[in-house]
Amino acid sequence: MEQSVNQAMNQSNQPANQFNTLEKRTVKISVLVSGGGSNLQSVIDHIKSGFLDQAIIVQVISSSADAYALERAKNEGIPGIAVTRQQWPEEEKRNEEILRLLTEAGTDLIVLAGYMSILSPELISAYSDRIINIHPSLIPRHCGKGYYGKRVHRSVLESGDLKSGATVHYVDEGIDTGRIILQETVPVEPGDTEDSLAARVLAVEHKILPRAVKLFCEEYLKGK
Ligand code: GRF
Repeated sequence: MEQSVNQAMNQSNQPANQFNTLEKRTVKISVLVSGGGSNLQSVIDHIKSGFLDQAIIVQVISSSADAYALERAKNEGIPGIAVTRQQWPEEEKRNEEILRLLTEAGTDLIVLAGYMSILSPELISAYSDRIINIHPSLIPRHCGKGYYGKRVHRSVLESGDLKSGATVHYVDEGIDTGRIILQETVPVEPGDTEDSLAARVLAVEHKILPRAVKLFCEEYLKGK
């Protein structure tokens, strides 16, 4: 990288366009959250470790003003912005504001990491194939309308399924219907509660979300 910048300077006798070079190799991620943000933290940690060296998080947008995820963003020096129902009661205006923030930050990829609001069709089509979501079950099991939070794990336990897991998928206009990127399975253990199963699944979410982001970045940068 440094070498190519130097070479560029020598050849053209002009200041090397470092910014363009960086732009070319960096995927700018906006992470949308609503809660604790442990999946956000996992992406941050994998960027810091170098595993996700093609990515930067340019902002965290939260649907809730007191989400701990915003605290995590602050601790890492990442801009955190709340766009809430209270501030923007009209769903359309709220989505317009989110779209404005995404555009202004030059977002390449949107990561929904525990985001509990619905995105408008306009926003989804503006970022077609550039929005990914993590869901705490093995899609197509236990997903769709009404399957969020503990309800997902309750449904797994009630179904008698012997395994569950997590799925990262692209977001389309349906609920949890987009193309699957990665899945990983965990066993359902005898005596599991919603909490114990959720914790086992969450550990897997923290693994596959950064891996899916990496897969996205590799593909995306080929075309950039
Ligand atoms: C995760 O289980 C995710 O799959 C679900 O919401 C939870 C968010 O956890 N959509 P966190 O905010 O990342 O800790």
